Amino acid sequence: MLNDSQYILGDSISNMKTDTYDYFFSGTPCYEDLEIFGVDKNKPSTYKTKFLDWFVPRLKPRLGTVTIAFTGCRRANSQILPKFFYVNQTFFQNGYILKDTKYYIKKNGYDAYSHTLGHVYTFQKKDKEGIFNLRKHKNFNTYGKDLWGPFGKEKVIDGEVVAQPFEVPEMCILNYTNEGHVVYDPFGGLGTTGLAAKKHQRNYLVYEIREQIYTEGQKLFNAN
Ligand SMILES: C[S@@+](CC[C@H](N)C(=O)[O-])C[C@H]1O[C@@H](n2cnc3c(N)ncnc32)[C@H](O)[C@@H]1O
Repeated sequence: MLNDSQYILGDSISNMKTDTYDYFFSGTPCYEDLEIFGVDKNKPSTYKTKFLDWFVPRLKPRLGTVTIAFTGCRRANSQILPKFFYVNQTFFQNGYILKDTKYYIKKNGYDAYSHTLGHVYTFQKKDKEGIFNLRKHKNFNTYGKDLWGPFGKEKVIDGEVVAQPFEVPEMCILNYTNEGHVVYDPFGGLGTTGLAAKKHQRNYLVYEIREQIYTEGQKLFNAN
């Protein structure tokens, strides 16, 4: 069953044209990683106009399903950078509906929720049905809740926040795919998405561009 899985060190963007997969699950890169696209955190709308408007039309999940798990907002120079708004807007403009929204608690506190709340948005291409296993499996008590967690802590390696709670991709993968499907994460960090896919007999295609993070991720794949 698991015949098509890879955790790759390198830039996913240059392979996007040829990569094939059933379901997309990923975080979105931080503003700073996208300077190459012309994204400037002091001009938040460039996240949409310079990156998302290029990226989203290139996504081709065979099931038509895309989950973006990300920190909803961040602050810079006393303003909110409203990623959740740009993500929704761009998917709507590209023929998707918002199929489901979930949130997970990162920690209690107040800092305009940049570090307190994770957003998990699932979009569905209008012309594809996709899979929604909540109806038939026992995912109801996990995926079915609107507010998830708190889970384990994330980590910082080489200045990047990695190690998203395993449960987040796990619950989404169980809900939106079946065994044997290929799960794609082009911004994979330690490979949490791939590890969750592997655990549940799905294939995975996961990229990470930073060697230090990839090396740590590889250890996890070898151990699990
Ligand atoms: C938010 S982190 C992902 C965390 C991941 N979900 C985990 O659990 O570890 C985003 C990752 O994308 C990587 N990245 C950014 N641009 C990339 C690119 N063009 N190709 C591959 N990886 C990239 C960054 O190095 C970073 O580790």
